[in-house]
Amino acid sequence: MEKRTLIYEGKAKQVFTTDNADVLWIHYLDQATALNGKRKEQIADKGRINSAISALLFNYLTAQGITNHHQQQLSPTDELVTKVKITPVEVVVRNFAAGHFVTRYGVAPMMELRPAVHEFYYKSDELDDPFMNDEQLVALNIAPQRELDELRVIADQVNVILTEAFRAIDIKLIDFKLEFGYTATNQLILADELSPDNMRLVDLNTGASLDKDIFRQQSGDVLTGYKIVLERLTNYLTANQL
Ligand code: C5P
Repeated sequence: MEKRTLIYEGKAKQVFTTDNADVLWIHYLDQATALNGKRKEQIADKGRINSAISALLFNYLTAQGITNHHQQQLSPTDELVTKVKITPVEVVVRNFAAGHFVTRYGVAPMMELRPAVHEFYYKSDELDDPFMNDEQLVALNIAPQRELDELRVIADQVNVILTEAFRAIDIKLIDFKLEFGYTATNQLILADELSPDNMRLVDLNTGASLDKDIFRQQSGDVLTGYKIVLERLTNYLTANQL
């Protein structure tokens, strides 16, 4: 597979076309941002660790029947994915209160949320990705109701599978964000990245944060937690041939 043109550069990834119109080449950068890109830092080895965690989780989800864009790891920081047209709706699932849920609603951090809470956000840099409910997304022609229903169903399935996998390695899945897209054959599939950049993870034994909150709050070396997640996931998934 040949890498061709850079078509997108995000906060932590570059996306290139390839010689196959249905396949994109993703390169993970050693970069982290906070405050919607206003704070940016280079963090050596972050690209490799995120790419590895994401590949493990996408492969695991594939094995559990969740179709997603991940195809193949090319190098420690590069992977091939199915080209999709990303839907402009981000789905956040929350099992415990954290982050914006705590600041917005004034509840105790880590309060258990039952049922798990789904939130939709409209992907828009100009508007800073605002929260939207179903009617807003439908009335503004951003997404039809059947798509929102489907997003909820898949997000729930992913939540059950990932919560269980993380519990097996003594990690609590607090919340996460998913993105989806349509393939050339119009199938809605899971896309983007699955790493501690877009999920909150807490060590069940120590209570330590193992995700990007360490970077957001400038409270230590963010990669310490990411490395723990990668090591435990690798051991668990390899040992159990998952
Ligand atoms: O900031 P907030 O509490 O809404 O984040 C909820 C979850 O979604 C967190 O795991 C966060 O990392 C993720 N998220 C994300 N990208 C965004 C917004 C939130 O990955 N643009």
